[in-house]
Amino acid sequence: MSTNRPPKRRVLIRHAAIERRVREVARQITRDFKGQRVHLVGVLKGACFFLVDLAREIDLETSIDFIAVASYGRSSESSGQVRMLKDLDSSIAGLNVIVVEDILDTGLTLNYLLRLLRQRRPKTLRVAAFLDKPARRVQPVKADYIGFTIPNEFVVGYGLDHAEHYRSLKDVCILRLPRG
Ligand code: PRP
Repeated sequence: MSTNRPPKRRVLIRHAAIERRVREVARQITRDFKGQRVHLVGVLKGACFFLVDLAREIDLETSIDFIAVASYGRSSESSGQVRMLKDLDSSIAGLNVIVVEDILDTGLTLNYLLRLLRQRRPKTLRVAAFLDKPARRVQPVKADYIGFTIPNEFVVGYGLDHAEHYRSLKDVCILRLPRG
């Protein structure tokens, strides 16, 4: 018999710590691209919270765009194909592009995106990942800017969801899902 009780969750990263860390990452980006413009590419949907907060703290001329992809085989050993759902609105040729991700997990999504975006001849191509979960990596890939490195737990909040729930939580929480 199944119960409809919501899964338990506990706070992993409090909002105040998130705000502090986002400011630090933004300062690092501001230093690295001093006097230049940066173009933030948010990977929908999870990254939109991080992108907005980051963009407002970067003290440079900044433009934004969004891309959406769907991945397959993330939890299995399959080929892990990634498919484009929404492309960028405009060209990134000659721009300092920073791909903004909410979480770097297996690395399949980011590898696909970096291959795709590199072909479009940006001036520079970097990655800012709010969370990094290195224990889950299937393909080697690294972010240039990382908010927090986290253990191999299922997390929600600050953009991250479970079946579209919990994205708007201000804290990042570990969700205890029932087995099966
Ligand atoms: C999540 C996340 C990354 C990707 C990371 O997106 O936003 O894009 O998975 O996983 P990977 O490193 O294993 O490829 P998701 O497909 O859950 O979409 P969402 O952002 O709309 O929730």
